[in-house]
Amino acid sequence: MEIALLGYGKMGKEIERIAVDLGHSIVFKGGSDWENEDLTGAEVVIEFSSPEAGFENVIRCLSLQIPIVSGTTGWHQSLPEAIAFCKEVDGSFFYASNYSLGVNIFFALNRVLAKWMDQFPQFCPHIVELHHSMKKDIPSGTAISIAEDILKNHSQFNSWTTENVKDQLKIESIREGEIPGTHSVRYQSLTDELHIEHISHGRDAFAKGALLAAEFLIGKKGFYQMNDLLNLNL
Ligand SMILES: NC(=O)c1ccc[n+]([C@@H]2O[C@H](COP(=O)([O-])OP(=O)(O)OC[C@H]3O[C@@H](n4cnc5c(N)ncnc54)[C@H](OP(=O)(O)O)[C@@H]3O)[C@@H](O)[C@H]2O)c1
Repeated sequence: MEIALLGYGKMGKEIERIAVDLGHSIVFKGGSDWENEDLTGAEVVIEFSSPEAGFENVIRCLSLQIPIVSGTTGWHQSLPEAIAFCKEVDGSFFYASNYSLGVNIFFALNRVLAKWMDQFPQFCPHIVELHHSMKKDIPSGTAISIAEDILKNHSQFNSWTTENVKDQLKIESIREGEIPGTHSVRYQSLTDELHIEHISHGRDAFAKGALLAAEFLIGKKGFYQMNDLLNLNL
């Protein structure tokens, strides 16, 4: 693939390292000053930038008719607008708040567990996520995806919160050290607790998933997510 990297921070560099190992070419890499650059040589853009830039970058690439794989988190409230714009311009757009295969298996497990646990109201769910201290968005995009899946599959709550609010699903965020990303869903009763957890050991799982998504997207029109790439539609 001929890849343009929008956002050349920790993730952009990791994607470049793995892409080059796999024989792909990086035809452009840049940060916040890319708007006057020529991306015409790129078959696909892979975008891991900042919460403030994610939406605008996606819209700009769709306007340029370049397929875009975005992993930037912290702009989920504008995602429906980006999906509608993709449809309007007949563009190609892939989005995941987390590109790791392990996390996507965790998402599927979370949906099934939420359905089961809905029969046992004595267990109350909450989410805990831990990340490195440089992470800008709180809660993580992955934690929001986990929360939204619980809300769809479990009837105890109608919304999530980062505060201690009665009748809302709590997401607890911890920022410390170099933690790449840990997410757990905990069901607590007065007598016991069960939890499922995913622990990332590094950024390469995200980078490999984003490259798989890019290969999948080239030649297709429309909006795609990890469930379209992996056979995990539970
Ligand atoms: N979906 C996933 O699987 C996944 C996994 C890991 C991380 N993420 C998310 O990916 C994003 C980037 O993470 P990171 O760890 O690589 O962050 P990072 O190390 O802080 O790098 C962010 C980069 O984005 C650039 N940038 C800022 N504004 C931009 C713009 N308008 N257009 C293009 N680039 C711009 C910055 O460049 P300048 O120096 O020029 O500002 C910087 O190099 C975050 O939102 C993070 O939460 C997602």
